[in-house]
Amino acid sequence: MTLTLTTAGESHGPALVAIVAGLPAGLVLDRNAIDADLGRRQQGYGRSPRQQIEQDRVEVLAGLRHGRTLGTPLALVVGNADHKNWAWGMSPWPPEGEPRGKGKEPVTLPRPGHADLAGAMKYGLDDIRDALERASARHTAVIVAAGAVAKALLAAIGVSLEGRVVTEDLERRIDEARADRDTVGGVVEVRARGVPPGLGSYATKEERLDARVAATLVGTQAVKGVEIGEGFALAGLRGSEAHDEILRDEGGYHRETNRAGGIEAGVSNGEEIVVRAAMKPLPTLMKPLRSADLETGEAAEALVERSDVAAVEALAVVAEACVAFELARAAREKFGGDALEDFVAAHRAYVERIPWSPR
Ligand SMILES: Cc1cc2nc3c(=O)[nH]c(=O)nc-3n(C[C@H](O)[C@H](O)[C@H](O)COP(=O)(O)O)c2cc1C
Repeated sequence: MTLTLTTAGESHGPALVAIVAGLPAGLVLDRNAIDADLGRRQQGYGRSPRQQIEQDRVEVLAGLRHGRTLGTPLALVVGNADHKNWAWGMSPWPPEGEPRGKGKEPVTLPRPGHADLAGAMKYGLDDIRDALERASARHTAVIVAAGAVAKALLAAIGVSLEGRVVTEDLERRIDEARADRDTVGGVVEVRARGVPPGLGSYATKEERLDARVAATLVGTQAVKGVEIGEGFALAGLRGSEAHDEILRDEGGYHRETNRAGGIEAGVSNGEEIVVRAAMKPLPTLMKPLRSADLETGEAAEALVERSDVAAVEALAVVAEACVAFELARAAREKFGGDALEDFVAAHRAYVERIPWSPR
């Protein structure tokens, strides 16, 4: 059994939905911990006023009873409080009455760097909103909720994660960009401690932990590069400088350096997992770039819509959730257990068998 995550939801639709299947029964979930992560995603320097409209809270529709998982699919919902302003424009059914509120005018000015033009051509759209609503990173809210669930599962086997921004001087860059009606990106890092050796596999690309971690991050909006451990810098080093020598003491095998970022041959090696993601500057600019009107073909400026100047701090939280989900999935594959007790017992027996201990 593995863990799967399916999401649905548009940026200004009624709600975002996630279904997490494959969780063991008996895992205690803390609503406040999930909401705290949702709140962390909404904070951060450079975010738009939308974050004050929304105060994300998780609702659970299935898979949980009295705070414990049932071993059945867990259905998570995060409502879009802003939907009330888009009730006509984003009505799931043909809307009744006169066009009103936000989203009633079709969007025809594609933004460079967003889903707008590719989406319009791919689906033959007259209104770019049909593409941008799902492409928007708003749905990372429900990914963060699923990540919080994954973190609860990982905590049961002593694994903890932390996502943070590593770009220096971000606030100054954001202030300068805002003054110029521009946007910025940055770099975030996720570290996971307590990950035992042996998660993932070198057997196939699909099972490789490095591939899975990279895919989940690069599959997140605005992420254009991923580094595991020293990543790109390794290419300029000699082998003797690049690899982490193997040492052994009473605690088992360990390394003094961690340039591999805790993954070798697609398998966790017992060191801290260290992964970085590079985020491009956000595509919606208050001083728009050149574009062409979808309807007329005439040169025009790209769409200006309420938007963040930067969302790097939010990405750190999203990236933490994404990596947590992949690690939880790999742990579920390694340790099985449809009941939490069995999952934890399998982990304990494995760690007792191997010459390794968390440091
Ligand atoms: C947490 C987060 C918040 C974002 N907020 C915005 C935003 O306010 N405005 C915007 O233009 N892009 C924003 N983006 C980025 C776009 O969603 C993204 O650039 C776009 O969907 C195109 O996809 P791509 O950058 O992966 O190619 C955000 C991304 C993340 C991860």
